[in-house]
Amino acid sequence: MTLLLTDIGELTTNTDNLGTLTNAALVIDGTRIAWVGPTSAAPAADTAVSLGGRAALPGWVDSHTHLAFAGDRTEEFAARMAGAAYRAGGIATTVSATRSASDAQLSDVIARHVAEAVSQGTTYIETKTGYGLDVPNELRSAQLAGSHVDEVTFLGAHLVPAGWDADSYVDLVCGEMLDAVAPHVRWIDVFCETGAFDASQSRAVLAAGAARGLGLRVHGNQLDYGPGVRLAVEMGAASVDHCTYLTKSDVDDLSSSETVATLLPACDLSTRQPLPDAQALLNAGATVALASNCNPGSSYTTSMAFCVATAVLQMRMSVQEAVRAATWGGARALRRENEIGIIKPGARADVHVLDAPSITHLAYRPGVPLTHSVYRAGKLAA
Ligand code: NIG
Repeated sequence: MTLLLTDIGELTTNTDNLGTLTNAALVIDGTRIAWVGPTSAAPAADTAVSLGGRAALPGWVDSHTHLAFAGDRTEEFAARMAGAAYRAGGIATTVSATRSASDAQLSDVIARHVAEAVSQGTTYIETKTGYGLDVPNELRSAQLAGSHVDEVTFLGAHLVPAGWDADSYVDLVCGEMLDAVAPHVRWIDVFCETGAFDASQSRAVLAAGAARGLGLRVHGNQLDYGPGVRLAVEMGAASVDHCTYLTKSDVDDLSSSETVATLLPACDLSTRQPLPDAQALLNAGATVALASNCNPGSSYTTSMAFCVATAVLQMRMSVQEAVRAATWGGARALRRENEIGIIKPGARADVHVLDAPSITHLAYRPGVPLTHSVYRAGKLAA
C-alpha cells in the first residue's frame, strides 16, 4: 500500500541535496519513504492525504531517555526549585521504587511515556536501564524496555548502590550483570561524574561493553568540568551526553572526533544548571544532538519540542540547527543517520506534521502543542 502526503507547505528533509522543500509531497510505501519531490510532480498512490500547506519534518529522534523507572520525585524537584542543589544521589530514590515495582507496573510506565512522546512527534526512542542496579532488576529493565522502545542502553553504571564499594560494584557491572544484560541491549553507558564513577572506573565499564560488542555512550560533564568528554572521545563513544561544562579542549576533542555532543536542555533547566554552549560546539564543527533525557529526577519531560524551543530561545541555536539536532543529530548519536531523522527514499517513514506553516513556529509559539499528525514507520501513530 502506498500513501501520498501532498500539499506540504515546508518539508524539512535533512538531506544535503534537498534540505528544505516548499510545496512538497512524499510517498510512503509500507514502512519506508519511496519518493520525495514537488507536489506538482507527485506520482499516483493508493491513498492521498493533503496536508493543506502544513510543515512536515522527520519525527523527533529522542536519543537519551531513562524510561525504565517507577515512583515520583516531585518533592525533590520542589526542594530544588526552593534552592536545593541537584545531586546524583537522588537516583537512589528511584532505584528503591523501581525494585519494588512489578513487571506490569514497570512496563506500563515505559509504555505510557512512549505513547506521550509519540503523540508529540517523537518517532524513534532510545532508553536506558540504570534504576535497577542489581542483576535481576537491570535485566528485567532491559527486557521490558526492549518491548516498547527502538533502542536499549545498559546503564548499570549509573550510581554505586547502597551497600557496595565502587570498585566491587564496577566488577559486578563488568561481569555478571553485563553477561545477563548484553543480549538485550545495543549500547553500554556510564555516568562519569563526581558522585558516580571516576575516569578509570568508567573506562573499565566501557571497555567491558566494547569487548561484548556493545556500542559506547557516556554521561559526562553534567554537573561540573570533568573527564567524561575526553574519555568518550578517546574510547570512540557514539555520543557523550549532557556536555554542560566544557573546556575549550573538550570542544576541540569533540570537533575532531566522530562522537556526538548530545545536549539535554530540559535537564539543565530542571536542575538549575547553565545551558550548554551549543554555538561553541557548532562553530568548532562538532555534531550536536538534542534529546529530552526524560527521567523522574533531573528532566521529567518527553517534549522534544520544548527542547527545541529552549535551544532556539535560550541557547541561540537557529531553528534549523535545533530541528536538525533533534532529528538527524539524534539519529547520528545512535549511528542510524541514513535510516531515521531524514526524509529520503529508503529511509524509515517517520514523518511529523505540524499544525503550522513552518518549523519556525516551534520556537515562535513555544509551549503550544503544534503536532498535527505523526507517521511512525509508515503508520499513522498520532
Ligand atoms: O541523565 N545523569 C545521570 N542520570 C540522569 C539522572 C537521573 C536521575 O536523577 O534520576 C540524567 O540526568
